[in-house]
This record gives sequence, C-alpha cells and structure tokens, in this order.
Amino acid sequence: MTTSILAQQLRKAQHVVIFTGAGASAESGIPTFRDLLTGLWERFDPAQLATIEAFRADASLCWGWYEWRRQKAGQAQPNGAHLAIAEIAKHMPRLTVVTQNVDDLHERAGSRDVIHLHGSLHSPCCIDCGQPYTLPLTSDALPEDGSRIEPPRCNTCSGYVRPGVVWFGEMLPENAWRAGLAAAEECDVFLSIGTSGIVYPAAELPLRALGHGATVVHINPVRFEISGQEHFLQGPASVMMQSLLREAFGEHPDPQ
Ligand code: APR
Repeated sequence: MTTSILAQQLRKAQHVVIFTGAGASAESGIPTFRDLLTGLWERFDPAQLATIEAFRADASLCWGWYEWRRQKAGQAQPNGAHLAIAEIAKHMPRLTVVTQNVDDLHERAGSRDVIHLHGSLHSPCCIDCGQPYTLPLTSDALPEDGSRIEPPRCNTCSGYVRPGVVWFGEMLPENAWRAGLAAAEECDVFLSIGTSGIVYPAAELPLRALGHGATVVHINPVRFEISGQEHFLQGPASVMMQSLLREAFGEHPDPQ
C-alpha cells in the first residue's frame, strides 16, 4: 500500500473511519503509553494510577497525575494529522473519527462528533453518584513528577470527583462503543493511526471492519505484525496524513 493508492480509495469511499491512538497526538507533545523511553507506562505504574482501586487507595496521587496530563493536553496544539483528518472529512460523504485518546485535539482541529471510546480528561464526574463536575479545575502549573492534589468534591453528594476517563477493568461508555462498532462495520475504508492495538475491546474495531469487507490500513512509524488482508503505511501520523490529504484532494492546511 502507498499513500497514492490509498488516496484513490478515499476518493471513491462512501464512509471512512479514522481510528486513533496515542501516536496520533505524539507529535503534539503528548506522551504515548507504551513507546520505549517516552511512554507513560514506562515512567508510571498503571496499577497505581489507572484503576478505580488506585483512586480509592490514593485519590490525591491519582488526581494529581490526571491534572498534570490535563494541563499538558490543554497546552498542546493539534498537529498535521489532526488537521488533515478534519480537512479530509470536508471532502467525504461521511467520515467518522473514533479515538482512544482522552485529549480534545481532534475537536480543536475541527473534527465533529468525535467518538471517545476511553472518555475525556475534560469531563470529570463524581465517583459515587456520577454527576458531571462543572466547576473550574485548578490551573496552577504542576511539576512533572505528579504532585498530589486533593480531588474536588461533588456538589450533590460530596463524593470525590474522578477523571472522566475509562480505567483498566472498566466498561467503555456504551453509546460510544456501540457507535464505534457500527461505524467500523459500515465503513469501506478504516484507517488505524498511532495505536499499539493491544487494548481491548477498542483493538477489536479494525478486525470488525476487516470482517465486514473494509480496506484496513495501519499508519505507524513502527512496523508490527498484521494479517495478509490488512495494509501498513510506515511513518509518523502527521507526514502520512498530510501526504494523503494532498494526494487525495490536493490540499494541505498549515500545521500549527
Ligand atoms: N505517529 C503515529 N504513530 C506513532 C507516532 C507518530 N508520530 N509516535 C508513536 N506512534 C505509535 C507507536 O509506535 C505505538 O504503536 O503510537 C502507538 C502508541 O501506542 P500506545 O502507547 O500503546 O497507545 P494506545 O494504542 O493509544 O493505547 C491504548 O491504552 O493505556 C491505555 O487507555 C490507554 O487509550 C490508551 C490505550
């Protein structure tokens, strides 16, 4: 597969799904989870930070870490991949963005109706009653090592406010999962960008798309094993998506 062959397919497609993982935001300066040396899970223990048990055991450590990540995401800007995806959507009858990312860079690049399978850093809620938390969160600069910050309390029941992300062992938000699955099963082209594809059930989506006859293409700078029916484009997300946009529709928005 080359970007020009994929560009031809995009021009003919009725429905494209763009499925993104942490690699799509890496060039915006947001660390991935599993990349060697820079991945978050190399520096922090997921069992201490990304489970409900971790939050119950040390809410301030967990909340402080997510506040640090929320600030980092807030300071980041959409990169060439986010911008190209939003631009490609303008040329397609239908394009659905399904992301595992908890930042809002797709939206800030102009993508609409993004399906967030793993929730969002920007939608905290009460851990006990589920009430969304709307008061402004702290904007103080946080040190990188993740200082402890006492989480705010729910206005309704005084329970702790938790990050609005999906933790290990939790179900995906039902509507998001259903919509992601439906899109994967209906699309004719499925692009999986910047994901290691090992966290289920999200990682099932490319397989579902393949099973329903879509062309499935993985975009990643690091090659990994795929089945004989899937395709691989090797390179960073921004470079590959900007080339694809140019070759399919002859445009390229300025990366910020
Ligand atoms: N462009 C494209 N891909 C990139 C880039 C880049 N510039 N830089 C790194 N990558 C790739 C890596 O090669 C890797 O395959 O992005 C992928 C990142 O993988 P992970 O860190 O495992 O991230 P992700 O697949 O999104 O993780 C899934 O795991 O911890 C949970 O909930 C978290 O949503 C996350 C889920």
